[in-house]
Amino acid sequence: MSTSRKYLIAGNWKMNLNASEGADLASQVVSMFGHQTEVSVCVCPAFTALEAVSNAVNESNIRLGAQNMHFESSGAYTGEVSAEMLRHLYCNFVILGHSERRQYFGEDEVIVNKKTKAALAANLKPIVCIGETLEEREAGRVNEVIKTQAEGALAGISAEQAENLVIAYEPVWAIGTGKTATPEMAEEVHAEIRCLLASLFGEETAEKVRILYGGSMKPGNAAELLAQKNIDGGLIGGASLKANDFAGIVEAAIKLSK
Ligand code: PGA
Repeated sequence: MSTSRKYLIAGNWKMNLNASEGADLASQVVSMFGHQTEVSVCVCPAFTALEAVSNAVNESNIRLGAQNMHFESSGAYTGEVSAEMLRHLYCNFVILGHSERRQYFGEDEVIVNKKTKAALAANLKPIVCIGETLEEREAGRVNEVIKTQAEGALAGISAEQAENLVIAYEPVWAIGTGKTATPEMAEEVHAEIRCLLASLFGEETAEKVRILYGGSMKPGNAAELLAQKNIDGGLIGGASLKANDFAGIVEAAIKLSK
């Protein structure tokens, strides 16, 4: 990672942990990392646990993120939650366009773009997820897929706004499968994403945007992934549900920051 960017380790709890379980896990994260400043640490619980986790991380350096939001600020959208509602609970981040949202809930580039703009307008930092399927990788289409997803999600965003963006490269075939991209494979795509960001927003802004890797990151492989030049953190699913595993990844990032 470049020295101008601070690592971000974000736990994506997905549809796991109720409010009290979430508060318990968040309190453990706070006791381990709540006072360090070398690495940004963020937990992203389910909506029902946001308030309890918000209270648990309050007055610590642990940041709060949501896993999704609607792009409108209010109205007749049964079952949805707005960026303003998330800000009200002191969320700093929101995961957008996760491959599970694309696969199971029909989210496409147009929706992810609207959500990204709405998040930025509400002062939330979007963690925009992009990544190819195994089929796309085997067909040699990685760069094309990444370009379509990134340009689609980021259309109409200014360079100034882009400084608050986070991108997560998550190869779909590596999510929850135990298969991780090798550090070299991941770095190749991260470097490509950095180039895309430079073409959209200019070099200087592209250097400021954090690009996270996601897909079966765990304590055993975190250090070698995070050591890559363009890997600025991790979006952690399964391993973020166990305090010790999550801690191992945060510690790897802290060590590399020194
Ligand atoms: P995983 O999930 O770490 O369980 O592979 C990553 C993600 O989906 O964000």
